[in-house]
Amino acid sequence: MDIHTDPIEMQTLCRSIRRKGRTIGFVPTMGALHEGHFSLIRQARAVADICAVSIFVNPAQFGPSEDYAKYPRPFEKDCDAAGREGCDLLFAPKSSDMYPENYLTRVAVIDITSRLCGASRPGHFRGVTTIVLKLFNIVQPDYAVFGQKDAQQAIVIQRMIDDLHVPVTIVVAPTVREPGGLAVSSRNAYLTKSERDDVPRIYQALHLVEQAFEKGERSAQSLKSFLESRFAEARFFRPEYCEIVDTTLLKPLDHIKTTALVAVACRTTESGTRLIDNVVLGALKEE
Ligand code: PAF
Repeated sequence: MDIHTDPIEMQTLCRSIRRKGRTIGFVPTMGALHEGHFSLIRQARAVADICAVSIFVNPAQFGPSEDYAKYPRPFEKDCDAAGREGCDLLFAPKSSDMYPENYLTRVAVIDITSRLCGASRPGHFRGVTTIVLKLFNIVQPDYAVFGQKDAQQAIVIQRMIDDLHVPVTIVVAPTVREPGGLAVSSRNAYLTKSERDDVPRIYQALHLVEQAFEKGERSAQSLKSFLESRFAEARFFRPEYCEIVDTTLLKPLDHIKTTALVAVACRTTESGTRLIDNVVLGALKEE
């Protein structure tokens, strides 16, 4: 595996790979790689000739009171893991190279970025779309792989790609879960023992909503009330939002005609960790 830190060097290398007719599958990450990322890397390897992974803790997507400084950065361990999982090219730029002095440009998708997570994290998605477009311009991938756990992020990036005619195909990989159902996330490392025991309820409740939908319930209000009643029983986390929305504009639904995104964000009571999870109702299930 080759490791590059210089954006221009990485861009030149990726351009020469593509000129040789080889395709690039790209997994952008903020490091602290776990099973969720490994599944994205495997997906990238499955669709393209060369697998590129970036590791960059992007300051522009963290709010002033968020965990940028304490975000885990186990770089050596990440390099070993990425190489082991089959990454060919690792890009780990310095913040000063991505946002040099006099940097002034932002990329913003409007409207859908102020819903769900965007409501409590103003500017977060603008930070994400800005860095993702910059990374796309450097890596020039044919495919970019994102996780379904960050459903809103994948929808926002797809919107940016469509709106700006960015020549990249997005692949969304299923959420990887721990045996109890908790979605794998770098932030799970912050959880206390009591929180860890309690948070599997998040997915258990989402799964019950899925089952109610499969049995024929189509009232978003009933499904949402059910979800809220399950979360009311939790001792070590509180929901920040539980929403049932359409999968394009993320607007709340009354009645589910075809598909719906059931998205939740919760905050734990001891460590203050923010966890998100979701299920898509009415989507074709993968075998
Ligand atoms: O999902 C993430 O880890 C980040 O938001 C991303 C896409 C790497 C952009 O910094």
